[in-house]
Amino acid sequence: MINPNDFVITRRRKKYKFAKFANSPLCFELDEWEKTSVDVIEVGAGTGLFSVELAERYPNKQFVAVDVKADRLQKGAYEAAARGLTNIRFLRARADQLADCFIEHSAQTIWLTFPDPFPRKRSSGRRMTHPTFLNIYRTLLVSDGSFILKHDSRDFFLWSLEQLVHEQWLIQELTFDLHDSELASDYKIMTTYEARWTDEGRTTNLVRATPMIQ
Ligand SMILES: C[S@@+](CC[C@H](N)C(=O)[O-])C[C@H]1O[C@@H](n2cnc3c(N)ncnc32)[C@H](O)[C@@H]1O
Repeated sequence: MINPNDFVITRRRKKYKFAKFANSPLCFELDEWEKTSVDVIEVGAGTGLFSVELAERYPNKQFVAVDVKADRLQKGAYEAAARGLTNIRFLRARADQLADCFIEHSAQTIWLTFPDPFPRKRSSGRRMTHPTFLNIYRTLLVSDGSFILKHDSRDFFLWSLEQLVHEQWLIQELTFDLHDSELASDYKIMTTYEARWTDEGRTTNLVRATPMIQ
């Protein structure tokens, strides 16, 4: 068993956070994960605190927050444990590995919250709204399931909308200023990045789309 306190003494903060991830029963590495079905997946979840809030609101739904960074995910895991939540887990995996993690056509909702925008054109393939990723999300969603994207960058958001339309997703809800809209209060729960950007005066764009074809 790794003892997180060993790392506090040496002030190796990142290793300390990795140790916390390893010790949390809510946190999973890919090789510890069994393919499963869940109701809600958050991709690129960072701390996963957004999913923690949703999980508290919907105790009968199962949530998984996915990110490549264990040091971020552990934060949400310890918050979930402190709140006594048993309907959320934290998985360290890349978005391109999702199809290995979840059963096809089983998720009701996939959230993609403030993914890295990769503004350079030559990096567009890495954007998590690239058709390659949209096809993975489509494979995981039930037929009337929702993909919901939140982002502060208007350029990235518009590019993502183009991909959704081109890939034959139906736009169900759309706003360029979420917190000044009439959309559901769940959507307005702030992610860690969102709170930061909103403090800087930026608005949040949101789109909810459903797959037209499976
Ligand atoms: C800008 S942060 C946003 C974090 C969080 N969603 C929020 O709003 O606070 C983007 C996150 O995506 C994660 N990420 C980047 N590429 C990823 C990938 N291919 N698969 C999963 N997560 C990824 C990063 O580790 C980072 O935590």
